[in-house]
Amino acid sequence: MSAASDAHADTAAGRAKRYDQAYFDKWYRDPAHRVKSPAELSRQVEFVLRTTEFVLGRSVRSVLDVGCGEGNWRAPLRRARPGIAYTGVDPSAYAVQRFGARRGLLLGSIDTLDDLSLMPQYDLIVCCGMLNYLPPDVLARGLKQVAQRTGGVAYLELFTREDQFEGDTDWPSPKAAAWYRALMHEAGLWPIGMQSYVAMAARGRVSALERL
Ligand SMILES: C[S@@+](CC[C@H](N)C(=O)[O-])C[C@H]1O[C@@H](n2cnc3c(N)ncnc32)[C@H](O)[C@@H]1O
Repeated sequence: MSAASDAHADTAAGRAKRYDQAYFDKWYRDPAHRVKSPAELSRQVEFVLRTTEFVLGRSVRSVLDVGCGEGNWRAPLRRARPGIAYTGVDPSAYAVQRFGARRGLLLGSIDTLDDLSLMPQYDLIVCCGMLNYLPPDVLARGLKQVAQRTGGVAYLELFTREDQFEGDTDWPSPKAAAWYRALMHEAGLWPIGMQSYVAMAARGRVSALERL
């Protein structure tokens, strides 16, 4: 193995180990580091549900949470809409082993959704606090797979070079907003504001002024 591929293997191994129990203990349970309270998460979930339901014209029935971590979105989603079918996907072996059976989490990556046993489309797809960690090629491939499965709204939280952010910012330097806009367009996703997107084929569901 060359020095370059050794370095790559080290990086990949490091990435795989990163989302272990210590990571989630630090960013989700330690009061010194936690960035989102349960009340803030509930507000975010309510906002995303209502936006999706306004676009769909009915209640949300299915949610795919990509990069779901421990599946923290599941409880507030099901509190708000008890009948909702929730599926999470995450590459963290720790999260899926510990919570997979109880919370409906599958081991996988955003760019290998096609390999998983998923529904063709979901009313709502959530990518919260995870897209900024991805290398550009994984992000590009992953967004295309998300777009194909977006039946209503995709909520894609992503911060750009022009934004300020807090929390775990150990990620590749964010690119300019224009770069992400072009990537979303190429993937077939139309922005409707507040980090929310509809699939290009469904853009007639929102008015021209809502399509940014
Ligand atoms: C900060 S956590 C966010 C977890 C969850 N979405 C939330 O809001 O609590 C980032 C998550 O992104 C996941 N992740 C990293 N690379 C990924 C990839 N290629 N595909 C899907 N998820 C990924 C990590 O395993 C980790 O669980």
